[in-house]
Amino acid sequence: MSVEARAVLLCPDGGDLRLASVLVSEPLGAEVQVEVRAVGVCHSDLHLVGFPHTGPVIPGHEVAGVVTAVGPDVASVAVGDHVAVTLVAWCGSCAACVSGQSYRCENPGATARPEGAGPRLALADGMAVAAGFGVGGFASYVLVHRNQVVRVPSSLPFEQAALLGCGTLTGVGAVLNGARVEAGESVVVLGCGGVGLSVIQGAVLAGASRIVAVDLNQGAVDAALSVGATAGVCAAGLSPEETVEAIRAAGVVAGAGVPGGEANADGGSAAGGVGLDHAFEVVGLPATTRQAVRSLRVGGRAHLIGLHRPGNLTELDLMLDVIQPQRGIQGIFMGQACVPRDVPRYAELALAGRLDLGRLVGSTVSLGDVPSALAALRSGVVGRTVVTELVA
Ligand SMILES: NC(=O)c1ccc[n+]([C@@H]2O[C@H](COP(=O)([O-])OP(=O)(O)OC[C@H]3O[C@@H](n4cnc5c(N)ncnc54)[C@H](O)[C@@H]3O)[C@@H](O)[C@H]2O)c1
Ligand SMILES: [Zn+2]
Ligand SMILES: [Zn+2]
Repeated sequence: MSVEARAVLLCPDGGDLRLASVLVSEPLGAEVQVEVRAVGVCHSDLHLVGFPHTGPVIPGHEVAGVVTAVGPDVASVAVGDHVAVTLVAWCGSCAACVSGQSYRCENPGATARPEGAGPRLALADGMAVAAGFGVGGFASYVLVHRNQVVRVPSSLPFEQAALLGCGTLTGVGAVLNGARVEAGESVVVLGCGGVGLSVIQGAVLAGASRIVAVDLNQGAVDAALSVGATAGVCAAGLSPEETVEAIRAAGVVAGAGVPGGEANADGGSAAGGVGLDHAFEVVGLPATTRQAVRSLRVGGRAHLIGLHRPGNLTELDLMLDVIQPQRGIQGIFMGQACVPRDVPRYAELALAGRLDLGRLVGSTVSLGDVPSALAALRSGVVGRTVVTELVA
């Protein structure tokens, strides 16, 4: 059955956000219709709002809810199941997918509705509405492909299960799958918002010895310390060089320093520490990307998670910042997740009290608050804002 949903619509004319009624089609083939019970407000939604659009779009992609209908080709979930929904598009049958590396799926378009079948979402006059990131989560219902949906235990609160769809999948996955942090290694996390706090929790799970949390907002640094960071650096008022020095000083692991204060091979002074093993950039700015690389020890690796504006260029001195100190730099998208493996793992860890999803939720709001919640991300929000009131 098709259903009418209340949704936050991004209109192409001027990019304003308004509440609207949207018709959500009945599920065809491999589609799953989900009644949304919670949806997180991720910074990527703010990026999406800033992009040019040719038609109306519903942003929002970090969703948890209850399955209300399934297409004839769906056996993985059933009506009444509690699920987390992700934006990760993977076909399930290409070489990458069948070898467990669905994050580099060769045919992600397979999760879209086949052409000619009509739109998944439409306005009352029939105009098609796009689902932002293939989810369209700021709505009381979503219609997605079965590969985007994973069953979660009904004992996990919806506002926590929603985080499994993006922030936690991305943050914990970046540490465990992307960086493969080893017990005893040191880590710095630049940007401690919804995703950065999950990176910190991932570093705790991995057994990192030092976890240095960096943010411009002291409240975010405090939140990071409360979920397992071992040191915090509030970068407000610090120059980029001072920030790097403060990170390196906070990241010193007992016995790992260079005695005497001589310069290290990578130009860092012993007073500032030899640098860290891993740096996670979770902001999406050239300045913090440079700081991430320059905070590393010889042979350290930078993991870039924050999304940059297309065309953003970051200047690095390739000889002094990368080649001589033998540093690696990689981009990580959605925590290199294997969705049907990782979402249940993280849910299990949450229920066992080893992943504190409750602490990641900053506040809960209603659907009508989405525009102000998105705007608030520009100036810094502590924890994840989650929409839990989907209907008036
Ligand atoms: N790669 C992926 O798969 C993926 C997935 C989800 C989100 N993201 C991206 O990750 C980034 C973070 O997302 P979020 O939802 O956590 O955002 P957020 O707005 O909740 O957090 C960003 C944090 O960065 C801090 N910050 C801003 N400028 C800073 C600076 N110069 N130095 C230090 N800290 C600074 C802010 O104070 C804030 O706490 C965004 O760019 C988002 O689009 C990427
Ligand atoms: Zn997200
Ligand atoms: Zn695939």
